[in-house]
Amino acid sequence: MATLLDLAAQGDVATVEDESRLSSIKLMTPQQLYELWERQPWSAHALDLTRDREDWASFDDDERADMIWGLSSFFVGEERVTTQFSGLVMSYEDQSEEAYLTTQQVDEARHTQLFARLYDEVMDVGGGIDAQLERVRADLNDSFVKLFDEHLVEAGRRLIEDPSSVEAKVDFVTTYHMVIEGTLALTGQNFITDFFEKTGKMPGFVEGFKKVSQDEHRHVAYGTWYLQKAVCERPELARRVQDKLAELLPVAAGVLVPAGKDPFGEWDLLGYPSEQINRFAFTALSRRLKVIGVGLPAVAA
Ligand SMILES: [Fe+2]
Ligand SMILES: [Fe+2]
Repeated sequence: MATLLDLAAQGDVATVEDESRLSSIKLMTPQQLYELWERQPWSAHALDLTRDREDWASFDDDERADMIWGLSSFFVGEERVTTQFSGLVMSYEDQSEEAYLTTQQVDEARHTQLFARLYDEVMDVGGGIDAQLERVRADLNDSFVKLFDEHLVEAGRRLIEDPSSVEAKVDFVTTYHMVIEGTLALTGQNFITDFFEKTGKMPGFVEGFKKVSQDEHRHVAYGTWYLQKAVCERPELARRVQDKLAELLPVAAGVLVPAGKDPFGEWDLLGYPSEQINRFAFTALSRRLKVIGVGLPAVAA
């Protein structure tokens, strides 16, 4: 079995051909990403979730347990990344970057609103967002809590303390954009969306979740742009990115494992085997590191 850590320990999956192509990719600037945001508007409150409520009742217990775990991780995750983003907004280096960063924070708030509607109108967990979050926290695994409540919060705190610190900004973007968004969120979105699309169920939520994915791709594009720029200006920062990844990948590997399943054995999410999920996550990360110009960290599998 290949866990996320095994794959990191084995080395990169990108081929030599990929390498020359990826290292020459021209990334979108914060100004371009801001303009793209203006062209991609959507409303979490305009989605029709009527069919979704009927569909939710039709899933079997195992499917529902996997979904509750995955969706609760997203719900709490979206709240965490909204709240902890303020330090990064404070760290802007020019007006275009400031404009882009404010859009990302409001995107994360909108994602939280989508999950609040899903839990309230489809899954019968209401009472307002604060009460909902308190309740769905019971569905999370320990690795999730460690990554979002400890590592992310600490990275945000250090950036708020000194928004001009490039080291704090590199640590934050590596944690937030590379690990949480680029490795975990895009992977979860891919498999959950694929499952719903195959079943033809939950059309309102799927429409919204695809918009979340579209937003997340812009977010990860910003993180990739920032780290590439930082490493280009100060090559010694590549080591800093690697060290942060080496610290976080063991935790991230645990975040992907559904509650109640053995993290050291074979597991599956909605019928997708752990090997496939880990490989998807790792490929996404390793390709982005190539673009940034950072080698894979040495991690013990
Ligand atoms: Fe988000
Ligand atoms: Fe995001």
